[in-house]
Amino acid sequence: MAKPRLAVVGIGLIGIRHAELVAASEDAELAAIADPSDAGPREAERLGTRHYADYREMLDAERLDGVYVAAPNQLHLEIGLACIERGIPAVIEKPLCDTLEAGADLVLASEAKGVPLLVGHHRRYNPRVEATRALLQRGELGRLVAVNAVWAVRKPDDYFVAWRRTAGGGPILINMIHDVDCLRHFCGEIAEVQAYGSSAVRGFEVEDTAVVAIRFAGGALGTVTLTDAAPSPWGWEAGSGDNPNIAASDENCYRFLGTDAALDFPNLTVWRGAGPEPASWAEKVFPTRLDWAGHEALPRQLAHFLEVIAGTAAPRIDGRDGLATLAATLAIKDAIHTGRPARPVAPPPAP
Ligand SMILES: NC(=O)c1ccc[n+]([C@@H]2O[C@H](COP(=O)([O-])OP(=O)(O)OC[C@H]3O[C@@H](n4cnc5c(N)ncnc54)[C@H](O)[C@@H]3O)[C@@H](O)[C@H]2O)c1
Repeated sequence: MAKPRLAVVGIGLIGIRHAELVAASEDAELAAIADPSDAGPREAERLGTRHYADYREMLDAERLDGVYVAAPNQLHLEIGLACIERGIPAVIEKPLCDTLEAGADLVLASEAKGVPLLVGHHRRYNPRVEATRALLQRGELGRLVAVNAVWAVRKPDDYFVAWRRTAGGGPILINMIHDVDCLRHFCGEIAEVQAYGSSAVRGFEVEDTAVVAIRFAGGALGTVTLTDAAPSPWGWEAGSGDNPNIAASDENCYRFLGTDAALDFPNLTVWRGAGPEPASWAEKVFPTRLDWAGHEALPRQLAHFLEVIAGTAAPRIDGRDGLATLAATLAIKDAIHTGRPARPVAPPPAP
């Protein structure tokens, strides 16, 4: 049987990783890439595939089974719609879109046409994320009381091309959205947030730093601290080593607190008392490191995308799921903007 023919739209930081993965895969063919920049023809030659400056031309000229949309956030709607119109399943990089209206339009179009979308919240494919969710769902920490999360790096100055400095870019939509998605995945839906943001270090239109307080619908509370202007060992990519572009630290970035035990993540260390009852403050708690196997999330996302294309699996993170993460993330921006608590906007009903 012929291999599924995939294409990548946008071959920047993340798109090139998708293109390289597909090109190296035994289960798929990299049919083409589309990118208007000078890098396009050069990368196409290196990867042994065709290049188009205009993604619409590519979608019309190539017989494609699936597309990765890895262009700037502000273009996800138009590129996603172009795939849906042609009946081509797509992985839409996160955020699903830069606004809720755009995200809802994309989801409704995919549902109306029956064309599956997979949103690129790839951390969910990481075995440590899977193990943590399973542990929380088994109730091993008791009742979840609170979680605290940190994502702190110093991005290089040349990273800040125009789309990353202006509305629709910024580290809340580019980076914190991953933590929001993980926290939804781990702790359930986010009911309300309060937040502060600051652009005091970089002085861009978008924030460089934010702190968020979360109330989950299930009753637990959470906090997230984010900055792209301060070097640190704390953040998912550093802690997990799941991104070759970010130096690994093996440090934790989340702490979960339950009525029976606590958990460091992503080291997967459970802290628990020695007795059958939850330890009181005079009693020592002891660490137990959990086992997990496997490493990178992106190859597992590709394998799943091929199942979605073949019709043997429903998207693990479909458009609606991506829209819910976007709504919770935009509630954070709303809370920063108004100075008041904000709730994620409910998605539109399915057609
Ligand atoms: N899943 C992840 O971990 C992850 C990581 C980084 C970025 N992202 C997301 O992926 C997307 C791209 O981010 P990036 O950091 O790779 O950005 P980038 O700026 O490095 O790359 C974007 C690419 O899109 C190209 N492009 C611009 N307009 C285009 C068009 N009309 N058609 C085709 N290509 C076009 C640019 O030339 C550039 O090569 C963003 O939505 C971002 O939020 C996801």
